[in-house]
Amino acid sequence: MAKPREATAMASSPSSLSPPEIPMELHEINRSKLIKYLREHLCHSSRPLQGFVLLQGGEEQNRYCTDHAELFRQESYFAYLFGVREPSFYGAIDVATGESILFAPRLSAEYAVWLGEIKPLSYFKERYMVSKVFYTDEIVKVLHDQYHSSEKPLLFLLHGLNTDSNNFSKPAEFEGIEKFEMDLNTLHPLLTECRVFKSDLELSLIQFANDISSEAHVQVMRKTRVGMKEYQLESTFLHHTYMYGGCRHCSYTCICATGENSSVLHYGHAAAPNDRIFQDGDMALLDMGAEYHFYGSDITCSFPVNGKFTSDQCLVYNAVLDAHNAVVSSMKPGVSWVDMHKKAEITILEALKKGGLLVGDVDDMMVERLGAVFMPHGLGHFLGLDTHDPGGFLKGAKRPGEPGLKALRTSRELQERMVITVEPGCYFIDALLVPAMESSNTSKFFVPEEINRFKGFGGVRIESDLRVTANGCVNMTKVPRETSEIEAVMAGGPWSIKNPIICSENGGKR
Ligand code: GLY
Ligand code: MN
Ligand code: MN
Repeated sequence: MAKPREATAMASSPSSLSPPEIPMELHEINRSKLIKYLREHLCHSSRPLQGFVLLQGGEEQNRYCTDHAELFRQESYFAYLFGVREPSFYGAIDVATGESILFAPRLSAEYAVWLGEIKPLSYFKERYMVSKVFYTDEIVKVLHDQYHSSEKPLLFLLHGLNTDSNNFSKPAEFEGIEKFEMDLNTLHPLLTECRVFKSDLELSLIQFANDISSEAHVQVMRKTRVGMKEYQLESTFLHHTYMYGGCRHCSYTCICATGENSSVLHYGHAAAPNDRIFQDGDMALLDMGAEYHFYGSDITCSFPVNGKFTSDQCLVYNAVLDAHNAVVSSMKPGVSWVDMHKKAEITILEALKKGGLLVGDVDDMMVERLGAVFMPHGLGHFLGLDTHDPGGFLKGAKRPGEPGLKALRTSRELQERMVITVEPGCYFIDALLVPAMESSNTSKFFVPEEINRFKGFGGVRIESDLRVTANGCVNMTKVPRETSEIEAVMAGGPWSIKNPIICSENGGKR
C-alpha cells in the first residue's frame, strides 16, 4: 500500500530543523533595556525622567509608478523595539512609566476585500505584548493625555548616522508634531548601543538563522555539479531556508560567484546576476545568509565546484582558513578588532610566502599594507537585525585611513554578547595586483611567475558568525571548513549541524 503523502515527505526531508516559535518577549526586553539606558543617561545629565521615545515604522513601497507592492520588511530599529511585521505603524515608550504604545494605521473597508481581515487593536496588543494600542491619527491626543506635565510633551526621535551606509535614520513625522518638544540627539546613540549587545533571545534567533543557513550551504555543496549555473546554487539555498526554516527574507542579496567572479567582492547584483555557467576546475565563493524574524546570518563557503581541491586551491583556501582560525582562537573581550584584522593579514601573507608567491619579510609587507592587496575588505562586522549591524564606531571614534583598515566596519574592542562576522579572504584582483606588482615600494615582494599562475583564479572567502562570550567566543556557523570535510560532504558524506564542530572558549581551541 502506498504511504500517505505527508509521511513520505517527512521521511525524505533534507532538514533536521523547523522554524522556532517567535519569542515576542524579546522586544519587551529590548524596550526595558533602552529605557534603563535612557533613564541612566537622563539622570546623569540631571534631566527629568519624562517624555516619549517615538519611532515610525517602515512604509510599504510600490515598484516605481506601478501598483506592485514590494515585499515589506520592517525598519530595523522599529523591529528591535516592537517586532511589528506590518507597515505604517508608530511605536512609543513612556520614559516615566516604561509603558509601550503602538499606533496602528486605520485601514479602509476596501482592505478587507483585497488584503484580508482588518485586525482589531486588541489583536496587536496581544500579539506584540504592548501596554496599549491606538490608531496613528490619535498620536497627538494620546501622548498629550498620557504626559505627566503641563508643558509640551517631549519626544525622543531617532536621528543619527549609520556608519556603514553613511545615511541618516529618518526621525518620525506625523501631523501635529509641532505640538511637541523634540530631542533628536539622545536616542540614536543609546538605541544603537543597545543593539550591539545581544540578549539570549536575540542570540537564539541569530543561531536559528545560522543553523538553517548552514544546513542550506551544505545542501548547496552536495548539489553542486560542473556545468550548472551560479543562480542554481542561489536557488537551492533560498529553497532550503524558506522551505524548512520559514525564512522569507535573506539578510542580503546572495553572492554566488564562481571562477574569476569570486574576486568580485559584491558580485550578484543586478548587473552581475549569478548567471555564469561554471567550469571544471573553478572555485565557488558563496556568500548567503537567511533572516528569521528580522535577525540574520552572514555565511560564506568557498569550495571547488568539482568537489576536489587542487594543490593551488588548497594553498589559497588554507591560507584563508588559517587566518579565520587564528582570529577565532584569539577572540575574547578586550581584544582589538583592528589587531584581529592585522592578524588575518599576517597569516595570509605568511601562507602566500610559504607557498612561494611572495618573498621577503612579512613585517615589511605589513608596513607597505600588502595585506590589503589580497584582502581589500574589513575582517568583519557586527551582525543582528542588519547584516552590517550598527554601532561599529562610537561617536568621535577615529576611523583608520590605511588601505584595508579603512574598510573596517568597526575598530572597537570586543565585548561579551557582541555578534561579529569573521570573514578573511584572499583574492587575485588585477586592479589591485597589477599596480602593487609595478610599485617601487612593493614589487620586490612578488614572485611574478608564481603569482601569474593565479590570474583568473578569483578568490576565497571564509565567513562565520561569532558570538563573544565572557572568556572567548562561540562560532554560530556550522558548515564544513577543513578541505577534507568539504570533499567528504561533496562526495555525499554526512554532516550534522546538531554537532557544532567549531567552538572556541578561552581563546584556546578553534
Ligand atoms: N555578505 C555581506 C558581507 O559579508 O558583509
Ligand atoms: Mn557575507
Ligand atoms: Mn559579512
